[in-house]
Amino acid sequence: IETVIFTDSLSASKSVAKEISDLIRVKQSQKQPCILGLATGSSPKSLYAELVRMHREEGLSFKNVITFNLDEYYPMEPDSVHSYVRFMKELLFDKVDILPENYHIPDGTLSKEEIADYCTEYELKIEALGGIDLQILGIGGNGHIGFNESGSLQNSKTRLVALDHITRVAASNEFLGLPNTPRTAITLGVKKIMEAKRVILLAWGESKSKIIKESVEGTVTNLVPASYLQEHKNATFVLDQGTAHKLT
Ligand code: F6R
Repeated sequence: IETVIFTDSLSASKSVAKEISDLIRVKQSQKQPCILGLATGSSPKSLYAELVRMHREEGLSFKNVITFNLDEYYPMEPDSVHSYVRFMKELLFDKVDILPENYHIPDGTLSKEEIADYCTEYELKIEALGGIDLQILGIGGNGHIGFNESGSLQNSKTRLVALDHITRVAASNEFLGLPNTPRTAITLGVKKIMEAKRVILLAWGESKSKIIKESVEGTVTNLVPASYLQEHKNATFVLDQGTAHKLT
């Protein structure tokens, strides 16, 4: 695992945006689609802002970009203020020239019976495109990646999961209290994340420093799913100083 430490999250995000735009342009010149795995939450917000800036000011086009988001709460209506569909549209998709048929976010409106087949289809779509070229991740305070909570296996598939109490508490402010916070979500499994050709995990601030140390320097364990990335051939943790200061 590689760690790269920046003075602040803004310069870190700009550097990651540069890598993504370089990849998009290489794929464009090869007439290939660029398959991106995307995360929501606070960590990638400045990354998406920088990509939007590059689209507006530097002519970066997303016409050849196909994206798969990691997760969505379940149940969730796409037009809810809490939905990851809304998040992605407001921060990225509606502000660049990505084709609407080219972005994918797990569907929070399915019936329970439909979820298993839907998740299989989600993975098959990724496979049919040759896999994820570059996966962006955040990390939960408990070490979750996507909504693969503690205990998720390295070969876990895309599925409906129960959210950890700590994850729900972290989300409860946005939902105006724990009782309104969803108990379940659909998440891409660890296996597809590990199959991505390149993985970049973003983490900012002191509050993530303990789990970053455990993920990077601790034993590889299903209790900390981010620790699986130690076994990925091309994974980088992009950190700010506040998050990195506990690393030896
Ligand atoms: C969101 C996701 C989650 C978040 C994680 C960190 O799509 O997959 O794993 O990345 O919960 O969230 P923030 O960035 O808000 O601290």
